[in-house]
Amino acid sequence: MTQDELKALVGRAALDHVVPGSVVGVGTGSTVDRFIDALATIAARIAGAVSSSERSSERLRGHGIRVLDAAQVERIPVYVDGADEIDPRGYMIKGGGAALTREKIVADLAERFVCIADESKRVDVLGRFALPVEVIPMAAAQVARRFAAAYGGQARLREGVRTDNGQCILDVHGLRIADPLAMETEVNQWPGVVTVGLFARHKASLCLLGTAQGVVTLRY
Ligand code: A5P
Repeated sequence: MTQDELKALVGRAALDHVVPGSVVGVGTGSTVDRFIDALATIAARIAGAVSSSERSSERLRGHGIRVLDAAQVERIPVYVDGADEIDPRGYMIKGGGAALTREKIVADLAERFVCIADESKRVDVLGRFALPVEVIPMAAAQVARRFAAAYGGQARLREGVRTDNGQCILDVHGLRIADPLAMETEVNQWPGVVTVGLFARHKASLCLLGTAQGVVTLRY
């Protein structure tokens, strides 16, 4: 199977975790695009969606799915999103699509995080994928220096990119993240950091992993 076919496979598999009549949390990315397409087939059976990006909102509306503002919901049963990397404990790197802040906000509303990913996203230790960090532009140079001093990481500004929140993204290369929870806690304290793309406090509850043998469900 191609990578695209694996994405479509896990996108459809995620429908089994959607609670009928509920509002669904929807992430961002090419795998989630396939989930949104699958969700369209049961649009009449859900109350709507809370979306983590303008990109996903547009696709949802295009399929006739009602998009609610995050402020309109207090709690949702499930958030479905992809990942750039996922480790054996369900900790993830996210933000390759620059939507990490809204993704964490919607994940925070959810009782369960269902990660959908193809096999290439599974790693033993996070960090081969450069860690995205949304920062206020004024703080970018200082945050980059801190990454070098604290973790030996080299931060590069993602040129020409502004997030849906109007901020910029640093991609931090050369990390080996043995303790994602500790790093997330630490980096969250640095002035000017809006969101670090480590999802440790908001890790996956389960992962639907697309493999050549079909969908494998990993629980954490
Ligand atoms: C978006 O900001 C990211 O967190 C995505 O979830 C991640 O990049 C996965 O995207 P793909 O499904 O396109 O690989």
